[in-house]
Amino acid sequence: MSADGAGESDPRRSVRERVFVVGAGIMGSGIAAEAARHGYAVTLEDVTEELARKGLDRARRALEQAKLPEGERQEALRNIEVAIGLRRVDTAGIVVEAAPERLDLKRELFREIEEEAAPEALLATNTSSLPVTSIAAGLKAPERVVGTHFFNPVLRMSLVEVIPGLTTRPEVVARARAFGERLGKTVVQSRDTPGFVTSRALAVLLNEAAWMLYEGTATKEDIDASYRLGFAHPMGPFELADLVGLDTALAILDILWEGFKDPRYRACPILRSMVEAGKLGRKSGEGFYIYPPRPAAPGGAGA
Ligand SMILES: NC(=O)c1ccc[n+]([C@@H]2O[C@H](COP(=O)([O-])OP(=O)(O)OC[C@H]3O[C@@H](n4cnc5c(N)ncnc54)[C@H](O)[C@@H]3O)[C@@H](O)[C@H]2O)c1
Repeated sequence: MSADGAGESDPRRSVRERVFVVGAGIMGSGIAAEAARHGYAVTLEDVTEELARKGLDRARRALEQAKLPEGERQEALRNIEVAIGLRRVDTAGIVVEAAPERLDLKRELFREIEEEAAPEALLATNTSSLPVTSIAAGLKAPERVVGTHFFNPVLRMSLVEVIPGLTTRPEVVARARAFGERLGKTVVQSRDTPGFVTSRALAVLLNEAAWMLYEGTATKEDIDASYRLGFAHPMGPFELADLVGLDTALAILDILWEGFKDPRYRACPILRSMVEAGKLGRKSGEGFYIYPPRPAAPGGAGA
């Protein structure tokens, strides 16, 4: 299944030029679009065809918003195929896991990926907060796994945080850095502690805003305006939480709490109750704000 039938069996592509993205959600679709735009043949995978096609639709919209020349955009789209399950993971030189932020799920996925992937493949996780060492624990070759933490929206954000696990081989780290650079990103490196640099900073920012809302310090609109206009942030904390996904933001806080046992990371109850009510932000249509449904792309499933 490819965007238009071209990506799947293009004989010109060596394994090294193929990227397999596990999980076609917010981040997987963005990473797929960015890799495709930089010339990789990409497989974007999810657990059902509907979810994979939604991811492809999201990648298509991201490429449209990037305002590339028409030919480049079409070429990038042709580079993406969708898949269900890990059956084709052995065709890729780079595997990027972007499934939900749950340790059990990521461990299970990497057990399968390790079995199926090409022996020379780079195995990367886009986790935003889980220790890479924990994700790789129990694998036959944990030294193959590295963190490549991309930012949302991937096509607009120019950072990749690379996180070596305790046993990651130096050449794996070098390849992860080279992958980020090939995608036009600035690469920074962090030690493998919960939340690394960026998610630790983000979690505190979002959580503090939620506690202020909880305590009635100000309205969400005024808190957002305070961060935007007072600190020149491009968006307020609630707008950002809706973009990230409240489930992901809460998962990051819980992982920081678990990892550090520090009250700084005690998640505000507003976040937990909103996640329990399915108010996850943009991806579910409602979070702190409401987002009208987008029209489905022709032939696509919409999002
Ligand atoms: N949302 C952000 O801003 C952001 C930023 C940086 C990193 N991250 C990290 O990226 C990862 C993905 O986050 P997201 O926001 O894209 O989540 P998401 O919920 O938008 O997408 C996750 C996708 O994974 C799929 N999935 C679930 N189980 C799977 C399985 N077994 N195999 C394959 N796919 C499966 C889901 O169906 C879904 O489409 C998480 O680790 C998150 O912490 C998120």
